[in-house]
Amino acid sequence: MTSAMRSAEAPAEVLVETTTTVNGREVRASVPARLHVADFLRQHLGLTGTHVGCEQGACGMCTVIVDGEAVKSCLMLACQLDGRSVRTVEDLAEGDELHGLQQAFKEEHALQCGFCSPGFLMTATALAHQGCRPGREEIREEIAGVLCRCTGYDNVVTAIERWFAEHPQGAAPDPHPAVTDPTATQG
Ligand code: FES
Ligand code: FES
Repeated sequence: MTSAMRSAEAPAEVLVETTTTVNGREVRASVPARLHVADFLRQHLGLTGTHVGCEQGACGMCTVIVDGEAVKSCLMLACQLDGRSVRTVEDLAEGDELHGLQQAFKEEHALQCGFCSPGFLMTATALAHQGCRPGREEIREEIAGVLCRCTGYDNVVTAIERWFAEHPQGAAPDPHPAVTDPTATQG
């Protein structure tokens, strides 16, 4: 079969015009209708801090924040981001200065290979955006959707617990909140 015949038979890829805010920056893109958010972030925007494990919603490695909520980005289509605000792990540190939560992970030895870390970091950050003040057991429940092969979880819980303890007010508002009225950003 010639390549010309193959391309003639291949179904046309449906593209969807999508405008979203990623880490505070507006992004306009034509995204394949079946592309999931994790691949959009990694392959189209170069934001490879979002890791992909199972692509079935089971491992939580791919967790990002969408409109303030922790979302498994392999289970959401990129075109569904239209009009929404996404925050990824790249948005935590400021230059070379680690975010307080990342610093807590570092100091509490809450990672080994680190592959799962973005999932934990964004899950905990979403809790802070929602004004939660979780205790140790609640933290365990909240991070249960993120799998780690290395740490045994105790140090992860300790790091998150410490970060919330260091911020007794609990809330750390989303710096890029959801755009509830898309027309509000126009003009
Ligand atoms: S890659 Fe998304 S949950 Fe595993
Ligand atoms: S630190 Fe290796 S998977 Fe969690």
